[in-house]
Amino acid sequence: MIRLFHVYKSFGGNPALRDISIHVRKGEFVFVTGPSGAGKTTLLRILFGSEKPSSGHILINGINLGRIRRKQLDLLRRKIGFVFQDFKLLNNKTIFENVAIALEVAGHGPGYIRKKTRQTLRSLGLAGKEGAYPLQLSGGEQQRVAIARALVKDPLILLADEPTGNLDPDLTREIMVLFRTIHMKGTTVVVATHSRELLQGTAIRKIFLDKGRVVKEE
Ligand SMILES: Nc1ncnc2c1ncn2[C@@H]1O[C@H](COP(=O)(O)OP(=O)(O)OP(=O)(O)O)[C@@H](O)[C@H]1O
Ligand SMILES: [Mg+2]
Repeated sequence: MIRLFHVYKSFGGNPALRDISIHVRKGEFVFVTGPSGAGKTTLLRILFGSEKPSSGHILINGINLGRIRRKQLDLLRRKIGFVFQDFKLLNNKTIFENVAIALEVAGHGPGYIRKKTRQTLRSLGLAGKEGAYPLQLSGGEQQRVAIARALVKDPLILLADEPTGNLDPDLTREIMVLFRTIHMKGTTVVVATHSRELLQGTAIRKIFLDKGRVVKEE
């Protein structure tokens, strides 16, 4: 489902990723972890095609990202849910609109969009917030909206960047349960986090990054 071959990424001479080769199978759940600046966000952005590697190759669902055209990339992204570290919510749109937009760009009809958006917001404990605007919500609520927007399209792959960074322990546990449920349904899940709590006591595969390199796998 996801394959990286000797991927390097530098920003103005500073290496952010060095010689990353990873294979994530269809339906796998993987944590990418490591200290701040290790390259977690860069890795996820490369998988989403929003950052190009300096060298190396990436295959997503059999598609070579190095050879992909813009239109193909848009189609591929419809199958990938991305929870951004900084949420990237549209502050002039309601919570409902922020989530529905993911289905609108995919060309779904209004009836389906309404039903699916409401259902997804409900599953994240956001029922009743549909008409609110992002800045009227708490950090944890905004984070859940960002997760809802990624999940509403039933993605093949879910990429989540520090998805519980703003949540208290109870909500963190709930989000983890949700991710596991999504994983059970067959979605490939990659979660980047430096939270030890999130990793503790799980049998989930862990890839440890440090200074842009894979230093350990568990
Ligand atoms: N757009 C960019 N321009 C220049 N340097 C960048 C850019 N994005 C990332 N970097 C650098 O690449 C390195 C890896 O950053 P990245 O954001 O991937 O780390 P991270 O593991 O996600 O850290 P954190 O846990 O703080 O989110 C850092 O040294 C960072 O300064
Ligand atoms: Mg990051």
